Amino acid sequence: MSEKRNVVVGVSGGIAAYKACHLVREFTEAGDNVRVVPTESALNFVGAATFEALSGNPVDTGVFTKVDEVQHVRVGQEADLIVIAPATADVIARIAAGRADDLLTATVLVATCPIVIAPAMHTEMWLNPATQANVDTLRDRGIVVLEPAHGRLTGKDSGPGRLPEPSQIAAMARTVMDHGTFDRSLFGKNVVISAGGTQENIDPVRFIGNRSSGRQGFALADIAVNRGANVTIIAGDTDDLLSPPGATVVKVRSARQMYQAVHDAAVDADIVIMAAAVADYRPEEEAGHKLKKGHADEQLATITLVENPDILKGLVEKRNSGETSATIVGFAAETDNPLEYGKAKLARKGADMLMVNSVQGGKVFGEERNSGWLLSADGGVEEIADGTKHVVAAEIWDAIESFER
Ligand code: C5P
Repeated sequence: MSEKRNVVVGVSGGIAAYKACHLVREFTEAGDNVRVVPTESALNFVGAATFEALSGNPVDTGVFTKVDEVQHVRVGQEADLIVIAPATADVIARIAAGRADDLLTATVLVATCPIVIAPAMHTEMWLNPATQANVDTLRDRGIVVLEPAHGRLTGKDSGPGRLPEPSQIAAMARTVMDHGTFDRSLFGKNVVISAGGTQENIDPVRFIGNRSSGRQGFALADIAVNRGANVTIIAGDTDDLLSPPGATVVKVRSARQMYQAVHDAAVDADIVIMAAAVADYRPEEEAGHKLKKGHADEQLATITLVENPDILKGLVEKRNSGETSATIVGFAAETDNPLEYGKAKLARKGADMLMVNSVQGGKVFGEERNSGWLLSADGGVEEIADGTKHVVAAEIWDAIESFER
């Protein structure tokens, strides 16, 4: 993954153009060769000098510069990835119409590499049937149009239309570059994903917890959202992660709260993925005050534990009794014999699929990369090669989708 790749960052004329500076950094810092191609109106927001300094490459907007080098064709031919962020309603319309009246649209028209577009505009423009039809056209042609984030827009209004954060756009764009393009294969599906670790209180200041950054679960949610699913994340304790655009995030703390939230959401779910690290046991009693060291409060030295309900197993029971029809996917983090223990766990839990990763020596926790094996109830074993957690998530989704068919 170390070879230098040619990434074209297209920037069109919306206020979110300033975020493109951070996006350029995401790629240059990963070692890619970045060529920024702004539209003429993007330069009203960010100057060409800024993009030239950040990318280390010249910046042009029109098709009549460097004509001797046939630049309007060459940039697109040499690209390994084109990512346009922000993409305005106007540039989306021009690309949908097949126009080539500036360097960016000409580059898109020439390119055969993956193209990722991150729209940003006011909600009314985004929801306008003209824009939606143009977006459908681009998606039908294999271009990945990312879901816009919901939230505060430039004025006082808020709604769908915000540009996702540069790190989110970069993660999706890299996944498309490394794993290949994807379509709206999860459109209309209700997906529930648990992520992070649960925390079981001992007293008001202490708890028993499981290590988990929540990154793999959030990456699964990111991919699902952009494949068109309605996604609910049930999040325990996680690193400070950005929510995928449009996903509903339900925060919980203990295993029992997670049980309730997952089981409530599972009723209407098509797919449930338990990526959370759930504490198997909790203190039998939670003290109402801070327990004192060396005090008569012996509870601190000896904590009696009771077993938590198994959320995954409970889901399988519900599915078997017809209360949900969801496909159920579990995770297993193992320090020894991951494949052997994984197979036994899949059989014991009765899930449809299980992603096993080896966490020997703390590997995987909080890291950007993952690997392992994806087991299915019919005996299938698929090795998942080392990759970013987003690429691993894309592979898991491919497998779930073919399992469902
Ligand atoms: O048994 P173990 O904790 O290793 O199983 C891991 C899988 O089971 C994960 O998918 C995890 O989210 C799920 N799990 C659960 N409820 C528990 C413990 C684990 O759903 N109480």
